[in-house]
Amino acid sequence: MLILGIETSCDETAAALVDDTRTIRAESVLSQTELHTPFGGIVPEIAARAHLEHLDGLIARTMQQAGASFADLDGIAATAGPGLIGGVIVGVMTGKALALAGSKPFLAINHLEGHALSARLSHDVAFPYLLLLVSGGHCQLLIVEGVGNYRRLGTTIDDAAGDAFDKTAKLLGLGYPGGPAIERAAKTGDGARFAFPRPLKGRPGCDFSFAGLKTAVRQAVETAGELSAALVADMAASFQQAVADSLADRTGRALEMFKERHPDGKALVVAGGVAANTLLRQRLTALAAQHGLELVAPPLRLCTDNAAMIAWAGVERLRLGLTDGLDFSPRPRWPLDPEAPKVIGAGAKA
Ligand code: KG4
Ligand code: ZN
Repeated sequence: MLILGIETSCDETAAALVDDTRTIRAESVLSQTELHTPFGGIVPEIAARAHLEHLDGLIARTMQQAGASFADLDGIAATAGPGLIGGVIVGVMTGKALALAGSKPFLAINHLEGHALSARLSHDVAFPYLLLLVSGGHCQLLIVEGVGNYRRLGTTIDDAAGDAFDKTAKLLGLGYPGGPAIERAAKTGDGARFAFPRPLKGRPGCDFSFAGLKTAVRQAVETAGELSAALVADMAASFQQAVADSLADRTGRALEMFKERHPDGKALVVAGGVAANTLLRQRLTALAAQHGLELVAPPLRLCTDNAAMIAWAGVERLRLGLTDGLDFSPRPRWPLDPEAPKVIGAGAKA
């Protein structure tokens, strides 16, 4: 089974060909970071236009790299939400057109489902598992019980973890993206110097909050006046420590709930760009071991936004016959677990 995956929900235009033996036959990603940098953030209209300009060529290149023709495809999978709607429409319309022209099944993929299943592309992970999804747009804990079967245990009530890294890096005068910059600066810093808050730590439930932490860093920056490199390093290290503590606390609670529901569950999976963070990985490895579980972290290129995970979700869905009609409407908001309790102030992508 060979599936073409298309990803256009944020600022990466991506295409990939993946088969049901878990092989990525080819993949191409075009980042728009340079287009958006002058504006200090992603401009949805610019993103949509750039997807439209590049997607066709990117798909052609990916097919060529794999030596595949459209006739070889068993289905076309495109991210159909949640995300910036202009870009999502570009990907969905392209996917539908290819499906119609080649009389192939169309698969409308939830971007979060792509992240949720990515570990099964890189590793031999059986359902059920607990997933910590931490990226620039999302911060959620989910029990993944099967394809299309997700139980959300927690989400952020304000910012996503990656967003907190990016905003804090900006406050500290470090570059974008903030996560890697903070991690680099933190290497020489003292993580115990600033007692930044651990929002929601020890509180019931598994929700996240990072707004208060960001405010605390801003206040520390304002109080400090001139920022020396050593001070920036200490602040970065203290911030990173606080985020890792919060994520570990919330994940620890979720692990207890997971084990209660699935005593035979074997894995904690971490996905999303923030999963690149070494301190976080160390904390999660220890936490998983405490609960008798293995930590599974897909390689970074599968953690950040990519089309291979979308194609793979297509493989998983097509195997179960879960195809979609060409009348499927792109969805700017699309929770993985529609039954999850509403969270006041939750971000758009939650
Ligand atoms: O998954 P991703 O590539 O894009 C989406 O948001 O969907 O995640 C990007 C986020 C950014 O906020 C970036 O700062 C963060 O992941 N990130 C990191 C690290 N590398 C990337 N955060 C902490 N430590 C890192 N090493
Ligand atoms: Zn993503």
